[in-house]
Amino acid sequence: MNKIICNDTLSALQNMPDETVDMGVTSPPYNKQENKKGWLVKNVKYDTACDKLPENDYQAQQIQVLNELYRTIKLGGSFFYNHKIRWERGELLHPMSWLSQTDWTIRQEIVWDRGLAANIRGWRFWQVEERIYWLYKPIDKKKIGTELLSKHAKLTSVWRFMPEGKNPHPAPFPLTLPLRAIYAIMDDNKGIIIDPYAGSGTTLLAAKLLGHDYIGIDISKEYINMANERINNYQNEQNILEREIEKHIVKTSSADRKKQNKSQGRFSPQNKNKHGQAILF
Ligand SMILES: C[S@@+](CC[C@H](N)C(=O)[O-])C[C@H]1O[C@@H](n2cnc3c(N)ncnc32)[C@H](O)[C@@H]1O
Repeated sequence: MNKIICNDTLSALQNMPDETVDMGVTSPPYNKQENKKGWLVKNVKYDTACDKLPENDYQAQQIQVLNELYRTIKLGGSFFYNHKIRWERGELLHPMSWLSQTDWTIRQEIVWDRGLAANIRGWRFWQVEERIYWLYKPIDKKKIGTELLSKHAKLTSVWRFMPEGKNPHPAPFPLTLPLRAIYAIMDDNKGIIIDPYAGSGTTLLAAKLLGHDYIGIDISKEYINMANERINNYQNEQNILEREIEKHIVKTSSADRKKQNKSQGRFSPQNKNKHGQAILF
């Protein structure tokens, strides 16, 4: 507990007991094929891990990892899996094709609008989005699960924030991503959060900021040192936590807004552009 295991993800997970973890968040290696710069967008190189497997082996490995996570997470628990649509020689590779083969119930596909991304070639429109899959482990086979509190459910299925800019890890996600996922699911309850590809420890830092215990796994000693350093200095990120928490507040109920003749949905009648069209806020 509150440690980062330096090992291969699958081997480390296989040594973990059943149903002990509350939830997890991760971004695995994307199998970007390292040396084939250009057919995807950006070349990511990890210091220890190899990100270059035959695609079928990669997908089979991800299914095994996800099923081990399913086993270790408690009934009613969730896992947020960040990935993206890739192309290999014109063929679209969609994360759903392996996620649908795992034990998990796919609860939602969230679009992460990064606003920008490295772009090398123009075969397609500039891809600035990634996906975050909310995976769920049902209790008594009830796939629908429990409701989110309104203050979390009012956030939309499009998450808009920029990629991480300052972190020296080659592929970090921004702290807002795990903060939002963990806070929405755990609210004020405390539990154990896992990141099986912890990298620079962004998920674990989010867990620490929100008062949870954590377990991390990564194969790189250097990234683990980076992660421990960030977790030890977690107070430095308090402002990012506060900015995220501010978004999870419901100021007036739907009934109050109706009484005051205010907007019920995500469009405000006051906010119209010069063509009279409602502006999304
Ligand atoms: C996309 S990065 C995760 C970055 C992390 N979300 C962050 O914000 O820093 C993937 C991580 O998985 C690690 N990794 C790749 N293959 C692994 C394996 N087989 N076992 C353990 N770790 C692995 C890499 O070292 C890398 O740090």
